[in-house]
Amino acid sequence: MFISTYGCQMNENDSERMMTLLEMMNFRPVTSPDQASLIIINSCSIREKPVHKVWSEVGRYREMKAKNPHLKIGVTGCVAQQEKEKLKLDIPLIDFVVGTDAIDQLPEVVAKAREGLNLVRARFEHQQPYHIETMVRNPGVSTFVNITKGCDNFCTFCVVPFTRGRERSRPLKHLIEDINKLTQRGVKEVTLLGQNVNSYMSECGINFAQLLKKLAVDTDVERIRYTTSHPKDFNDELIDIMATYSNKIMEYIHLPVQSGNSEVLQRMNRGYTREEYVLKAKQIFEKMPNAVLSTDIIVGFPGETEAQFQDTMTLLDEVPYENIFAFNYSPRPMTKAMRFTDQVPDEVKSDRLSRLLAKHREIAFKLAEKYQGRTLKVLVERYDSSPGQLMGRSTQNKSVYFKGNETWIGHTVDVKIATAYPLVFHGEMVQ
Ligand code: SAH
Ligand code: SF4
Ligand code: F3S
Repeated sequence: MFISTYGCQMNENDSERMMTLLEMMNFRPVTSPDQASLIIINSCSIREKPVHKVWSEVGRYREMKAKNPHLKIGVTGCVAQQEKEKLKLDIPLIDFVVGTDAIDQLPEVVAKAREGLNLVRARFEHQQPYHIETMVRNPGVSTFVNITKGCDNFCTFCVVPFTRGRERSRPLKHLIEDINKLTQRGVKEVTLLGQNVNSYMSECGINFAQLLKKLAVDTDVERIRYTTSHPKDFNDELIDIMATYSNKIMEYIHLPVQSGNSEVLQRMNRGYTREEYVLKAKQIFEKMPNAVLSTDIIVGFPGETEAQFQDTMTLLDEVPYENIFAFNYSPRPMTKAMRFTDQVPDEVKSDRLSRLLAKHREIAFKLAEKYQGRTLKVLVERYDSSPGQLMGRSTQNKSVYFKGNETWIGHTVDVKIATAYPLVFHGEMVQ
């Protein structure tokens, strides 16, 4: 089997789940698609580019399929969920389609495909709560744990509510059991996953902040991370709990802003203004002076003027983002903004994007300077024998490279930073 994964951590986690399910059916992973008897494309439809990449990958398998009629090709993920039956009708090369909520049906679908029956499974499960025990073959030091699925926010640009369905939360008890099992398998760090983790609500009324506290107090996991937050739901209680349990809850916060202009934010249906966002960031730094913020930004949203774009540029001066993910607005099927009549020309979007990235690059290098010479706590994840180097993550989520041997994997060590680029640090272990 060969699985290509596009898109977000949700999809990465789903691919790992599919690998686990397929190994139970005696499939073995291979490193290149031409060795595989089963190819799965776990697709993403967040913007036009990832969708194109999926189509071109399917196209590359045409000859392989012609030579080997036993080769089965399936599409899963958000494009599968969005297109359902249409995908197979449009591209007969595809043998099966499995949507985002039907992953656990994959073994049955694959078995049927081998018998020559080509299925499409893309119905949303509406059951409440959401049941999904983590499935990882080799969890390593750090692993993902789903806490919610779906999204109810309907930001006007975003396809996710249509490809992942309504928001559901996992029961608290299951989460704790799940994480306990992972720590028994050697996991030191978990990243809690959801489209908007801040709106987690357990069946017994425990919210996200209280969930973090419970995991910090009641489990043996050493480090807790989470993604993604939504600024409208990022509240004071959460800031307080993060500050109190900062030994376990990592001080890195991905807080997607999307735009620095309040009118644009309103047309995006984000539920906050620029001023409210900036205030929240200030409150975070007041209680957690070492916090690290990163964000997502969309440029060229329909109707965005140059002056409104400048508000996004100046936001970078007000909020010290160490990392940004910025994108040209891309019209998505089923979304409200696709029908807005004041679309911004592509050249204008690209010009704004390059100005934004250039401005941020300078800021990021300046912000990285403060780490030079500092000693950071690094959880060691990997050893690469050829340069004899260890790789781990600092509490701020920076990748740190330093000399050492594999016995350090899974340990938290002090590393003195010699060179600090925005995302990658090099240093030396301090004994
Ligand atoms: N749940 C996350 C976002 C998931 S999508 C959140 O609420 O922030 C990841 C990022 O893709 C978004 O933050 C947004 O910046 C970007 N994105 C989503 N839809 C887009 C679109 N139509 N065009 C361009 N970028 C988009
Ligand atoms: Fe999309 Fe908005 Fe939901 Fe994030 S919060 S997944 S951007 S609809
Ligand atoms: Fe892409 Fe779906 Fe994730 S659209 S970003 S894979 S939720």
